[in-house]
Amino acid sequence: MRKRFIAERVFLSKLTQAIKELTPTRQIVILGIESSCDDTSAAVLVDDKIHANITADQAFHRNFGGVVPEAASRAHQRDILPVVEAALAEAKIDKSQLDAIAYTRGPGLLGSLLVGSSFAKSLAQALGVPAIPIHHIRAHVLAHFIDTGASKPSFPFLCLTVSGGHTLILKVDSPFEYRILGETLDDAAGEAFDKAAKLLGLPYPGGPLIDKLAQSGDPRKFAFTKPKVPGIDLSFSGLKSNIKQFIDRSLKSNPNFIEQHLNDLAASIQSTIVSMLLEQLIFATKHTGIREVALAGGVSANSELRAQLQTHAQKYGWNTYTPPIQYCTDNGAMIAIAGKFALEAGELGALADAAVARWEIG
Ligand code: KG4
Ligand code: ZN
Repeated sequence: MRKRFIAERVFLSKLTQAIKELTPTRQIVILGIESSCDDTSAAVLVDDKIHANITADQAFHRNFGGVVPEAASRAHQRDILPVVEAALAEAKIDKSQLDAIAYTRGPGLLGSLLVGSSFAKSLAQALGVPAIPIHHIRAHVLAHFIDTGASKPSFPFLCLTVSGGHTLILKVDSPFEYRILGETLDDAAGEAFDKAAKLLGLPYPGGPLIDKLAQSGDPRKFAFTKPKVPGIDLSFSGLKSNIKQFIDRSLKSNPNFIEQHLNDLAASIQSTIVSMLLEQLIFATKHTGIREVALAGGVSANSELRAQLQTHAQKYGWNTYTPPIQYCTDNGAMIAIAGKFALEAGELGALADAAVARWEIG
Protein backbone atom coordinates (compact mmCIF):
# COMPACT_ATOMS: atom_id res chain seq x y z
CA MET A 1 0.00 0.00 0.00
CA ARG A 2 2.77 2.41 1.10
CA LYS A 3 4.76 1.58 -2.04
CA ARG A 4 1.75 2.54 -4.13
CA PHE A 5 1.48 5.93 -2.39
CA ILE A 6 5.18 6.62 -2.94
CA ALA A 7 4.87 5.63 -6.59
CA GLU A 8 1.83 7.91 -6.88
CA ARG A 9 3.77 10.86 -5.40
CA VAL A 10 6.77 10.28 -7.67
CA PHE A 11 4.50 9.99 -10.69
CA LEU A 12 2.65 13.23 -9.88
CA SER A 13 5.89 15.06 -9.20
CA LYS A 14 7.33 13.93 -12.56
CA LEU A 15 4.07 14.84 -14.27
CA THR A 16 4.17 18.38 -12.85
CA GLN A 17 7.79 18.77 -13.90
CA ALA A 18 6.98 17.51 -17.39
CA ILE A 19 4.05 19.95 -17.70
CA LYS A 20 6.35 22.80 -16.66
CA GLU A 21 9.07 21.82 -19.13
CA LEU A 22 6.66 21.37 -22.03
CA THR A 23 4.87 24.64 -21.48
CA PRO A 24 7.28 27.00 -19.69
CA THR A 25 5.21 30.14 -20.25
CA ARG A 26 1.86 28.60 -19.41
CA GLN A 27 0.04 30.08 -16.42
CA ILE A 28 -0.37 27.96 -13.30
CA VAL A 29 -3.92 27.96 -11.93
CA ILE A 30 -4.57 26.72 -8.40
CA LEU A 31 -7.79 26.44 -6.41
CA GLY A 32 -7.19 26.91 -2.66
CA ILE A 33 -9.71 25.59 -0.14
CA GLU A 34 -9.72 26.53 3.55
CA SER A 35 -12.07 24.99 6.12
CA SER A 36 -10.05 24.58 9.32
CA CYS A 37 -12.37 26.44 11.68
CA ASP A 38 -15.47 28.53 11.01
CA ASP A 39 -14.75 30.07 7.59
CA THR A 40 -15.42 28.22 4.35
CA SER A 41 -13.15 29.87 1.83
CA ALA A 42 -12.07 29.22 -1.75
CA ALA A 43 -9.65 31.20 -3.88
CA VAL A 44 -8.29 31.04 -7.40
CA LEU A 45 -4.61 31.83 -7.88
CA VAL A 46 -3.28 32.47 -11.37
CA ASP A 47 0.52 32.46 -11.15
CA ASP A 48 1.06 34.60 -8.03
CA LYS A 49 -2.07 36.73 -8.32
CA ILE A 50 -5.41 36.09 -6.66
CA HIS A 51 -8.33 36.29 -9.11
CA ALA A 52 -11.03 35.42 -6.56
CA ASN A 53 -11.14 34.86 -2.80
CA ILE A 54 -14.62 34.03 -1.52
CA THR A 55 -15.43 33.31 2.12
CA ALA A 56 -18.66 32.23 3.82
CA ASP A 57 -18.28 32.96 7.52
CA GLN A 58 -20.45 31.34 10.17
CA ALA A 59 -21.90 34.27 12.08
CA PHE A 60 -24.32 32.03 14.02
CA HIS A 61 -21.47 30.96 16.35
CA ARG A 62 -21.69 34.37 18.02
CA ASN A 63 -24.93 33.21 19.70
CA PHE A 64 -22.92 30.49 21.46
CA GLY A 65 -19.93 32.62 22.55
CA GLY A 66 -17.48 30.53 20.48
CA VAL A 67 -17.19 28.03 17.64
CA VAL A 68 -19.41 24.93 18.03
CA PRO A 69 -17.41 22.22 16.16
CA GLU A 70 -20.37 20.07 15.05
CA ALA A 71 -22.31 23.10 13.79
CA ALA A 72 -19.17 24.37 12.03
CA SER A 73 -18.67 21.19 10.02
CA ARG A 74 -22.33 21.10 9.02
CA ALA A 75 -22.11 24.68 7.78
CA HIS A 76 -18.93 23.86 5.79
CA GLN A 77 -20.83 20.96 4.22
CA ARG A 78 -23.62 23.35 3.19
CA ASP A 79 -21.31 26.13 1.96
CA ILE A 80 -18.37 24.42 0.29
CA LEU A 81 -19.85 23.83 -3.15
CA PRO A 82 -21.42 27.30 -3.56
CA VAL A 83 -18.23 28.96 -2.30
CA VAL A 84 -15.99 27.03 -4.73
CA GLU A 85 -18.40 27.68 -7.62
CA ALA A 86 -18.53 31.39 -6.77
CA ALA A 87 -14.72 31.61 -6.68
CA LEU A 88 -14.34 29.89 -10.06
CA ALA A 89 -17.08 32.07 -11.58
CA GLU A 90 -15.55 35.30 -10.25
CA ALA A 91 -12.11 34.30 -11.56
CA LYS A 92 -13.67 33.25 -14.89
CA ILE A 93 -11.88 29.92 -14.60
CA ASP A 94 -13.35 26.60 -15.67
CA LYS A 95 -12.59 23.54 -13.53
CA SER A 96 -10.75 22.02 -16.50
CA GLN A 97 -8.17 24.84 -16.31
CA LEU A 98 -7.06 23.95 -12.77
CA ASP A 99 -3.51 22.58 -12.39
CA ALA A 100 -3.95 21.61 -8.73
CA ILE A 101 -6.24 21.92 -5.76
CA ALA A 102 -4.63 22.94 -2.47
CA TYR A 103 -6.54 22.33 0.74
CA THR A 104 -5.98 22.81 4.47
CA ARG A 105 -5.00 19.44 5.93
CA GLY A 106 -4.55 20.80 9.48
CA PRO A 107 -4.21 21.91 12.18
CA GLY A 108 -7.79 22.79 13.07
CA LEU A 109 -11.16 21.29 13.98
CA LEU A 110 -11.24 17.76 12.61
CA GLY A 111 -14.87 17.83 11.47
CA SER A 112 -14.29 21.12 9.65
CA LEU A 113 -11.05 19.93 8.04
CA LEU A 114 -12.70 16.72 6.84
CA VAL A 115 -15.23 18.66 4.76
CA GLY A 116 -12.64 20.76 2.88
CA SER A 117 -10.10 17.97 2.49
CA SER A 118 -12.62 15.36 1.27
CA PHE A 119 -14.12 17.87 -1.16
CA ALA A 120 -10.69 18.91 -2.49
CA LYS A 121 -9.45 15.34 -2.91
CA SER A 122 -12.64 14.19 -4.67
CA LEU A 123 -12.62 17.13 -7.08
CA ALA A 124 -8.90 16.72 -7.77
CA GLN A 125 -9.36 13.00 -8.40
CA ALA A 126 -12.23 13.70 -10.81
CA LEU A 127 -10.17 16.28 -12.69
CA GLY A 128 -6.97 14.24 -12.67
CA VAL A 129 -4.90 16.94 -10.94
CA PRO A 130 -2.95 16.81 -7.68
CA ALA A 131 -4.69 17.52 -4.35
CA ILE A 132 -2.04 19.30 -2.26
CA PRO A 133 -2.26 19.14 1.57
CA ILE A 134 -1.34 22.45 3.23
CA HIS A 135 -0.36 23.35 6.79
CA HIS A 136 -2.74 26.11 7.92
CA ILE A 137 -0.19 28.15 9.87
CA ARG A 138 2.46 27.90 7.15
CA ALA A 139 -0.17 29.21 4.76
CA HIS A 140 -0.80 32.24 7.02
CA VAL A 141 2.94 32.99 6.74
CA LEU A 142 3.09 32.37 2.98
CA ALA A 143 0.21 34.81 2.38
CA HIS A 144 3.02 37.40 2.16
CA PHE A 145 4.02 35.95 -1.20
CA ILE A 146 0.70 36.63 -2.93
CA ASP A 147 1.43 39.24 -5.57
CA THR A 148 -0.27 42.42 -4.32
CA GLY A 149 2.34 44.86 -5.60
CA ALA A 150 3.79 45.19 -2.07
CA SER A 151 7.34 44.07 -1.34
CA LYS A 152 7.80 40.56 0.03
CA PRO A 153 9.97 39.43 2.94
CA SER A 154 13.32 37.87 2.09
CA PHE A 155 14.47 34.66 3.76
CA PRO A 156 15.27 34.27 6.57
CA PHE A 157 12.62 36.43 8.22
CA LEU A 158 10.84 36.52 11.56
CA CYS A 159 7.09 36.12 11.56
CA LEU A 160 4.87 36.91 14.51
CA THR A 161 2.06 34.47 13.73
CA VAL A 162 -0.99 35.25 15.81
CA SER A 163 -4.40 33.65 15.37
CA GLY A 164 -7.27 32.26 17.41
CA GLY A 165 -5.44 28.99 17.96
CA HIS A 166 -1.73 29.89 17.67
CA THR A 167 0.81 32.42 18.85
CA LEU A 168 4.24 31.75 17.45
CA ILE A 169 7.38 33.75 16.82
CA LEU A 170 8.84 31.92 13.84
CA LYS A 171 12.14 32.04 12.03
CA VAL A 172 11.22 31.29 8.44
CA ASP A 173 14.21 30.02 6.44
CA SER A 174 12.29 28.97 3.33
CA PRO A 175 8.66 28.16 2.39
CA PHE A 176 9.31 24.70 3.88
CA GLU A 177 11.57 25.46 6.88
CA TYR A 178 10.14 26.96 10.07
CA ARG A 179 11.75 27.21 13.49
CA ILE A 180 9.69 28.15 16.54
CA LEU A 181 11.67 30.72 18.55
CA GLY A 182 8.85 31.42 20.97
CA GLU A 183 5.23 30.46 21.53
CA THR A 184 2.39 30.86 23.96
CA LEU A 185 2.41 28.50 26.91
CA ASP A 186 -1.39 28.66 27.24
CA ASP A 187 -3.95 30.83 25.40
CA ALA A 188 -3.31 32.17 21.90
CA ALA A 189 -3.32 35.95 21.35
CA GLY A 190 -6.64 35.76 19.46
CA GLU A 191 -8.09 33.74 22.32
CA ALA A 192 -6.89 36.42 24.76
CA PHE A 193 -8.75 39.06 22.70
CA ASP A 194 -11.86 36.87 22.45
CA LYS A 195 -11.94 35.92 26.14
CA ALA A 196 -11.40 39.53 27.24
CA ALA A 197 -14.19 40.61 24.89
CA LYS A 198 -16.50 38.02 26.43
CA LEU A 199 -15.78 39.50 29.87
CA LEU A 200 -16.92 42.85 28.44
CA GLY A 201 -20.15 41.21 27.23
CA LEU A 202 -19.15 41.34 23.56
CA PRO A 203 -20.07 38.55 21.09
CA TYR A 204 -17.60 36.11 19.49
CA PRO A 205 -15.17 36.77 17.83
CA GLY A 206 -14.36 39.70 20.09
CA GLY A 207 -10.94 40.63 18.61
CA PRO A 208 -12.27 42.85 15.79
CA LEU A 209 -14.80 44.49 18.17
CA ILE A 210 -12.12 45.34 20.74
CA ASP A 211 -10.07 46.83 17.89
CA LYS A 212 -13.03 48.99 16.83
CA LEU A 213 -14.00 50.13 20.34
CA ALA A 214 -10.36 50.88 21.20
CA GLN A 215 -10.19 53.49 18.42
CA SER A 216 -11.90 55.98 20.72
CA GLY A 217 -10.52 54.78 24.04
CA ASP A 218 -7.56 55.67 26.24
CA PRO A 219 -5.01 52.82 26.28
CA ARG A 220 -3.44 54.16 29.50
CA LYS A 221 -6.69 54.39 31.47
CA PHE A 222 -6.42 50.91 33.08
CA ALA A 223 -3.26 48.96 33.80
CA PHE A 224 -3.30 45.17 33.57
CA THR A 225 -0.57 42.80 34.66
CA LYS A 226 1.55 41.41 31.85
CA PRO A 227 2.47 37.82 32.74
CA LYS A 228 6.22 37.33 32.25
CA VAL A 229 7.75 34.08 31.08
CA PRO A 230 11.43 33.38 30.48
CA GLY A 231 12.91 33.50 26.97
CA ILE A 232 10.81 34.34 23.92
CA ASP A 233 7.64 32.52 25.05
CA LEU A 234 4.36 34.18 26.06
CA SER A 235 1.48 33.52 28.44
CA PHE A 236 -1.98 35.07 28.29
CA SER A 237 -4.08 33.08 30.76
CA GLY A 238 -2.96 35.19 33.75
CA LEU A 239 -3.99 38.34 31.88
CA LYS A 240 -7.50 37.00 31.47
CA SER A 241 -7.76 36.30 35.22
CA ASN A 242 -6.40 39.76 35.98
CA ILE A 243 -8.98 41.44 33.72
CA LYS A 244 -11.76 39.31 35.21
CA GLN A 245 -10.84 40.15 38.80
CA PHE A 246 -10.60 43.85 37.95
CA ILE A 247 -13.99 43.88 36.21
CA ASP A 248 -15.70 41.88 38.99
CA ARG A 249 -14.33 44.31 41.61
CA SER A 250 -15.34 47.37 39.60
CA LEU A 251 -18.86 46.05 38.97
CA LYS A 252 -19.42 45.64 42.72
CA SER A 253 -19.04 49.36 43.29
CA ASN A 254 -20.57 50.44 39.97
CA PRO A 255 -22.96 48.06 38.12
CA ASN A 256 -22.64 50.23 34.98
CA PHE A 257 -18.82 50.18 35.01
CA ILE A 258 -18.44 48.27 31.73
CA GLU A 259 -20.87 50.40 29.70
CA GLN A 260 -19.39 53.63 31.10
CA HIS A 261 -15.79 52.61 30.31
CA LEU A 262 -16.15 50.26 27.35
CA ASN A 263 -13.84 52.14 24.98
CA ASP A 264 -11.13 52.70 27.59
CA LEU A 265 -11.33 49.06 28.69
CA ALA A 266 -11.01 47.86 25.09
CA ALA A 267 -8.07 50.21 24.42
CA SER A 268 -6.27 49.22 27.63
CA ILE A 269 -6.74 45.48 27.00
CA GLN A 270 -5.62 45.82 23.39
CA SER A 271 -2.57 47.85 24.31
CA THR A 272 -1.55 45.25 26.94
CA ILE A 273 -1.80 42.32 24.51
CA VAL A 274 -0.03 44.21 21.71
CA SER A 275 2.82 45.36 23.92
CA MET A 276 3.33 41.80 25.22
CA LEU A 277 3.61 40.55 21.64
CA LEU A 278 5.98 43.30 20.58
CA GLU A 279 8.27 42.95 23.60
CA GLN A 280 8.90 39.32 22.65
CA LEU A 281 9.26 40.19 18.97
CA ILE A 282 11.96 42.75 19.84
CA PHE A 283 13.67 40.09 21.93
CA ALA A 284 13.58 37.68 18.97
CA THR A 285 15.09 40.25 16.58
CA LYS A 286 17.90 40.96 19.03
CA HIS A 287 18.46 37.26 19.64
CA THR A 288 18.70 36.40 15.92
CA GLY A 289 19.96 39.68 14.45
CA ILE A 290 17.22 39.39 11.80
CA ARG A 291 15.54 42.64 10.77
CA GLU A 292 13.05 41.26 8.26
CA VAL A 293 9.91 41.19 10.39
CA ALA A 294 6.45 40.04 9.32
CA LEU A 295 3.02 39.59 10.86
CA ALA A 296 0.59 36.80 10.01
CA GLY A 297 -2.70 35.28 11.21
CA GLY A 298 -6.07 36.71 12.18
CA VAL A 299 -4.75 38.98 14.94
CA SER A 300 -2.37 40.63 12.45
CA ALA A 301 -5.51 42.48 11.25
CA ASN A 302 -5.36 44.41 14.55
CA SER A 303 -4.82 48.11 13.83
CA GLU A 304 -2.82 48.79 17.01
CA LEU A 305 -0.50 45.85 16.36
CA ARG A 306 0.08 47.10 12.81
CA ALA A 307 0.68 50.68 14.00
CA GLN A 308 3.05 49.60 16.78
CA LEU A 309 4.98 47.44 14.33
CA GLN A 310 5.63 50.54 12.21
CA THR A 311 6.77 52.56 15.22
CA HIS A 312 9.19 49.80 16.21
CA ALA A 313 10.38 49.42 12.62
CA GLN A 314 11.52 53.03 12.64
CA LYS A 315 13.14 52.71 16.05
CA TYR A 316 15.00 49.46 15.35
CA GLY A 317 15.55 49.68 11.57
CA TRP A 318 13.32 46.71 10.72
CA ASN A 319 11.85 46.03 7.29
CA THR A 320 8.26 45.09 8.09
CA TYR A 321 5.60 43.18 6.19
CA THR A 322 1.87 43.05 6.96
CA PRO A 323 -0.54 41.19 4.67
CA PRO A 324 -3.63 42.99 3.33
CA ILE A 325 -6.53 42.51 5.81
CA GLN A 326 -8.35 40.01 3.55
CA TYR A 327 -5.31 37.69 3.73
CA CYS A 328 -4.88 37.99 7.54
CA THR A 329 -7.94 36.12 8.78
CA ASP A 330 -8.61 32.62 7.43
CA ASN A 331 -8.86 32.62 3.63
CA GLY A 332 -8.47 30.35 0.61
CA ALA A 333 -5.89 32.66 -1.01
CA MET A 334 -3.17 31.78 1.49
CA ILE A 335 -3.85 28.07 0.90
CA ALA A 336 -3.57 28.59 -2.86
CA ILE A 337 -0.19 30.39 -2.67
CA ALA A 338 1.13 27.71 -0.28
CA GLY A 339 -0.08 25.18 -2.89
CA LYS A 340 1.91 26.99 -5.56
CA PHE A 341 5.13 26.66 -3.56
CA ALA A 342 4.38 22.98 -2.95
CA LEU A 343 3.56 22.33 -6.63
CA GLU A 344 6.79 23.96 -7.76
CA ALA A 345 8.77 21.88 -5.26
CA GLY A 346 6.97 18.66 -6.22
CA GLU A 347 5.64 18.37 -2.63
CA LEU A 348 2.29 17.06 -3.76
CA GLY A 349 1.16 14.87 -0.90
CA ALA A 350 -0.93 11.77 -1.49
CA LEU A 351 -4.62 10.92 -1.64
CA ALA A 352 -4.12 8.95 1.58
CA ASP A 353 -3.14 12.11 3.51
CA ALA A 354 -5.78 12.33 6.23
CA ALA A 355 -6.97 15.56 7.85
CA VAL A 356 -5.10 16.20 11.12
CA ALA A 357 -6.31 18.28 14.06
CA ARG A 358 -2.75 18.67 15.35
CA TRP A 359 0.28 19.16 13.11
CA GLU A 360 3.64 20.57 14.14
CA ILE A 361 4.88 23.43 11.95
CA GLY A 362 8.58 22.61 12.13
O1 KG4 B 1 -6.38 33.22 11.71
P1 KG4 B 1 -7.81 33.34 12.15
O2 KG4 B 1 -8.80 33.95 11.19
O3 KG4 B 1 -8.36 31.94 12.56
C1 KG4 B 1 -7.57 31.00 13.21
O4 KG4 B 1 -6.76 30.32 12.53
O5 KG4 B 1 -7.68 30.97 14.46
O6 KG4 B 1 -7.80 34.17 13.51
C2 KG4 B 1 -8.98 34.42 14.21
C3 KG4 B 1 -8.63 35.25 15.44
C4 KG4 B 1 -9.82 35.45 16.38
O7 KG4 B 1 -9.39 35.18 17.70
C5 KG4 B 1 -10.17 36.91 16.19
O8 KG4 B 1 -10.74 37.52 17.33
C6 KG4 B 1 -8.81 37.50 15.88
O9 KG4 B 1 -8.18 36.55 15.05
N1 KG4 B 1 -8.91 38.79 15.18
C7 KG4 B 1 -8.53 39.96 15.72
C8 KG4 B 1 -8.80 40.96 14.76
N2 KG4 B 1 -9.34 40.35 13.65
C9 KG4 B 1 -9.38 39.02 13.93
N3 KG4 B 1 -7.99 40.24 16.91
C10 KG4 B 1 -7.73 41.54 17.18
N4 KG4 B 1 -7.97 42.55 16.32
C11 KG4 B 1 -8.50 42.31 15.10
N5 KG4 B 1 -8.73 43.32 14.25
ZN1 ZN C 1 -5.93 30.85 10.82
